[in-house]
Amino acid sequence: MLTLGIDSSCDDTSVALVADGRRIVAGLVSSQIEIHRRFGGVVPEMASRKHFEAILPVLSETLAAGKVSLNQIDQIACTAGPGLLGPLLVGLATAKGLSLSLKIPLIPVNHLEAHLAAAFLARGEEPAYPFVGLIVSGGHSNLVLANGPREFTTLGRTADDAPGELFDKIARHLQIGYPGGPAVQKLGETGDPLRYRLPRPLAGRGYGFSFSGLKTAILQTVRAEGEKLSLPDLCASMQAAVAETLCGKAEAAAAETGCKRMVLAGGVAANGVLRRKFEDLAALHGIQLLIPPIALCTDNAAMVAAQGFFSANAVTGDLTRVNASSDWAMGDPLPLA
Ligand code: KG4
Ligand code: ZN
Repeated sequence: MLTLGIDSSCDDTSVALVADGRRIVAGLVSSQIEIHRRFGGVVPEMASRKHFEAILPVLSETLAAGKVSLNQIDQIACTAGPGLLGPLLVGLATAKGLSLSLKIPLIPVNHLEAHLAAAFLARGEEPAYPFVGLIVSGGHSNLVLANGPREFTTLGRTADDAPGELFDKIARHLQIGYPGGPAVQKLGETGDPLRYRLPRPLAGRGYGFSFSGLKTAILQTVRAEGEKLSLPDLCASMQAAVAETLCGKAEAAAAETGCKRMVLAGGVAANGVLRRKFEDLAALHGIQLLIPPIALCTDNAAMVAAQGFFSANAVTGDLTRVNASSDWAMGDPLPLA
């Protein structure tokens, strides 16, 4: 069973072919990083236009790379939300057109659910439940209990900024690079994580996250230190604060649910400090930890194809009426018109 995956939820136009939800036949990502770099963040209207230009060439190249023709595809899985509305529409309209013309099913996929599926796809395995999942990206910070391909209970989410957003905004302020996460990681490699005392927001207080206060604390540190500021130490201290905060909540969720399987996913899961912190946590508690390799942490369409394949039976309704939705929550029914 060959699934064509499409993702255009943010600033990457990506198409992939996945066999049986477990094996990547081909996958391409056309990045818009260079376009948005000078603005220090994604400009939604520019992103929409670039998706529109890229989507058909990326589709053709992916088919060519996989040596697959359109009529060999069995079904299409496409991100329907959450994400930026204009960018989402480009992918979904393309997927609907292909589905109608090829007369094959279209499976709308929740982008955050897909991030979690990446961890199993990387191992060539079907997702196993239950697990505690943490999705950390530029737009999200969601802690969930997963009980099935479309059965998610949200334990906590951020009340304001996402951790990737924190890295991106601080990096923009300090002018150290774009996107912020990789730049912070690189600079932090030689830094002292204990140098600056930064808060661990909402530690020990439920499953909710809040990163905007941490952002303010970092900016105050920058101001107070002035010329004395050590960028490596600041980046190391910032990563330690984020990693400890995320890890503490995930640890509490595993203890309360008794779940011995955990998935860490999303763009920020590419962070080395965070990965090591979660590895230590898993070793300490005998938890099976799954983190996708870095290429499958950041946005890609292979994870969308995998999630579509395994959730197909759970997705019902008139799929021709599915809308793009900027805030489609995990586990919620389809965003129907
Ligand atoms: O999942 P993703 O590709 O897109 C969204 O759905 O948001 O995540 C992008 C985010 C950006 O904020 C970026 O700074 C962050 O992931 N990121 C990282 C690293 N690589 C990407 N954050 C920390 N460390 C990294 N190595
Ligand atoms: Zn994402």
